[in-house]
Amino acid sequence: MPKKTDNVIIFDTTLRDGEQSPGFSMNIKEKLTLAAQLAKLNVDIIEAGFPQASQGDYDAVNQIAKSVRGPVIAGLARAMAGDIDRCASALKPARKKRIHTFVGTSEQHIKYQMKKTKSQVLKMAINAVRRAREHVRDVEFSAMDAVRTEMRFLYDILEATIEQGAGTVNIPDTVGYAIPDEFGQLIAQIKENVPNIDKAIISVHCHNDLGMAVSNSLSAVMNGARQVECAVNGIGERAGNASLEEIVMAVKTRKDFLKVGVQVKTREIYKTSRLLVSITGVLIQPNKAIVGENAFAHESGIHQDGVLKERSTFEIMTPASIGLKKNRLVLGKHSGRHAFSKRLEDLGYKLSKEDLNKAFEQFKLLADKKKEIFDEDLETIVGEEISEETFPGVFELEHIQTSSGTGSIPTATVSLRKGDEVFTDSAIGDGPVDAAYRAIERITSIKGRLMSYNIR
Ligand code: KIV
Ligand code: ZN
Repeated sequence: MPKKTDNVIIFDTTLRDGEQSPGFSMNIKEKLTLAAQLAKLNVDIIEAGFPQASQGDYDAVNQIAKSVRGPVIAGLARAMAGDIDRCASALKPARKKRIHTFVGTSEQHIKYQMKKTKSQVLKMAINAVRRAREHVRDVEFSAMDAVRTEMRFLYDILEATIEQGAGTVNIPDTVGYAIPDEFGQLIAQIKENVPNIDKAIISVHCHNDLGMAVSNSLSAVMNGARQVECAVNGIGERAGNASLEEIVMAVKTRKDFLKVGVQVKTREIYKTSRLLVSITGVLIQPNKAIVGENAFAHESGIHQDGVLKERSTFEIMTPASIGLKKNRLVLGKHSGRHAFSKRLEDLGYKLSKEDLNKAFEQFKLLADKKKEIFDEDLETIVGEEISEETFPGVFELEHIQTSSGTGSIPTATVSLRKGDEVFTDSAIGDGPVDAAYRAIERITSIKGRLMSYNIR
């Protein structure tokens, strides 16, 4: 059973709640790869799946239980004997294992979904925890939809399940309905009104339907919760679960305020997030906190100037703390002279004040036409064209035509304008994009490199 601590236990449900949401299903090999990375990340608990849901889920939980060492391996089970026995069987090879059993406790769930009475549900919960304890020492009970559950009934069911040996009681905001203050109060009320609550760890499991899963979880921590259920990149049912990286970095960054710790190795965060993206093919929004592409990128001149003078002016965490090499100063139309000259310096250019001014003007002209200015653009500006008013080295696309299909050879015809002249050429390739690159290469003698490619 988990010990009481002032650390927040990080219970990762990426492979269970996360995996069950549309677009995120993974095969066993992928689940094993991700579970191994979660162990490297040093999460406390990995919820590996729901063994009764399918043979595939059973096998995944079983394989993870066999091979992943470090975190506790948990399996989910409804408050039913069959589910619990199957879960126990899947978890058998794990050194540290937990059965996580749940039942809906709100009026909506009891009356409309299960068509039962409260006393029947109470009995189900008691029997489920008792049965799970016959298999393992570490049992978690979840009162599904706790936020919409009548308080007296919630206290009673928590007391009864703790009495039966549940070492963790989970308070899910299943439908993402709570507001942070309200959710914090709920945890405080549970602490006050469940007589044996000190025998269990209070856990929370917040969904993000109103965008408050992380705030709600932290509010719960401030009121005594010591386990947070969360998922990498915030994936999960509907709008997802509380995002693991946001919870962890909030606890680390605001330890002064929250006064708790986490065991997670934060330098593995970025890698874990990217691994999930590459396994599922589901991208994250660029402005996603902590792991989005822009989370450590600065484009505005004022911000870049500040960060170059002293990082803490506009950064509250270091990129290294999540495993990123460095922040990114994106050169674009909002960038200022400071970032521009710093990048040139990094590229090895030492320009006179006059040349720097000219180059900066050219850079601003180009930045108005192009979203992001890359190092190669800077080299063109500085290397060849510093004294010219236009960009004679820049090609513009006039025309592109590609063809591909089953049984045909992918072909592309491209026309590029350079100044007053238009050049046209064709090429074949592995596919239409490759063929287009090859045609461009034939015209420009510039070898292109495909940096990113998505089909939706
Ligand atoms: O959202 C929820 O209530 C759940 C439970 C099974 C914990 O996922
Ligand atoms: Zn959930």
